[in-house]
Amino acid sequence: MSKQIGILTAGGDSPGLNAAIRGVGKAAQNHYNMHLMGFRDGFRGLVENRSFRLEGDILSGILTRGGTILGTSRDKPHRMEIGGKIMDMTDVIVENYKSNHLDALVCLGGGGTQKNALRLMEKGLNIITLPKTIDNDVAMTDTTFGFDTALGIATDAIDRLHSTAHSHHRIIVVEIMGHRAGWLALGAGIAGGADVILIPEIPYDIHIVADAITQRVRSGKTFSIVAVAEGALPIKEAEIARKLEQRKLNPKDKKDKKEAKARLAELEKEHADHTFHLSRQLEELTGLESRVTILGHLQRGGTPSAADRILSTRLGTACAQFIDQGKFGVMVAAKGEMAIPVPLQQVAGNKKLIPPDHTWIQAARMVGTNLGE
Ligand code: F6P
Repeated sequence: MSKQIGILTAGGDSPGLNAAIRGVGKAAQNHYNMHLMGFRDGFRGLVENRSFRLEGDILSGILTRGGTILGTSRDKPHRMEIGGKIMDMTDVIVENYKSNHLDALVCLGGGGTQKNALRLMEKGLNIITLPKTIDNDVAMTDTTFGFDTALGIATDAIDRLHSTAHSHHRIIVVEIMGHRAGWLALGAGIAGGADVILIPEIPYDIHIVADAITQRVRSGKTFSIVAVAEGALPIKEAEIARKLEQRKLNPKDKKDKKEAKARLAELEKEHADHTFHLSRQLEELTGLESRVTILGHLQRGGTPSAADRILSTRLGTACAQFIDQGKFGVMVAAKGEMAIPVPLQQVAGNKKLIPPDHTWIQAARMVGTNLGE
């Protein structure tokens, strides 16, 4: 009997999602005689049983399209807002999985989705995931689809900002997505030749950044490009956040954990206009004029790059193959030219941050880029 496969996309959208859906769908149908059912808007669609058949023409013409034809949301199965209340909808998902006669559920998503997928696996569902996010921070995979496209967009933006910064003798601070991991800011910063790159993995000293810019002025370079990741933090704040994270992980008691979580949430809120604050500080310390460019969701929009289309197709088709082989409870990871199944327990809850000795960091230092340290 042919297998019935459910598929959903969760978390922030990412270029390459449609290419991956197409890869799973075409391989599943053409090679393994499976039926595919798409659930709308992430885990919410599975709770509300909003689905449609992904057959024939629906999978054509989507390879190059940005976003996701399934829609997405950041809803978590175990904490979903239903009629103004936060409810655990895991059992409803299990019920709907069964009532739709699913043999497997494919979840395309980033770190949060991998955690949610593990929870569903622990409830006995046949789960398989694919790693997507422009942040490139999913553990146990070389890369994630969406990253290459976003890297191209952010690099192009830095290229364009150069001529205007140069003409006006200004600092331009360009904010690049990435709350916890700085892959995108570091990659685009190196590729675009940013003069300063600030990432969450390396807490920065504003005086060191300002000195580097002043040095550039002394050597006749009257403009500077500062590429800053959303989550980059000055040394002091980073230390406070680190201690709170530790308290959250090893709390004295429940109350302590709640307090640490609340304080972390507050810090995140306060951090929202951090890039503007950084720009103002640099103006004061260097005497130069500074402007801010926030790339925001531009980085996630539009058509995927060729590399992302290939990656999505590779991982998507391998996913169908693993389903056929009955390999569940795994994420399909990219390892060199291979696509390998990695147990979800090794992925969920682990973030792939930039290691301090990573070659990108070494290379940036070697060309004289200031990392705020
Ligand atoms: O996780 C991907 C990501 O694009 C992050 O880089 C960014 O911080 C976040 O999503 C933005 O989320 P939202 O689309 O919900 O504003």
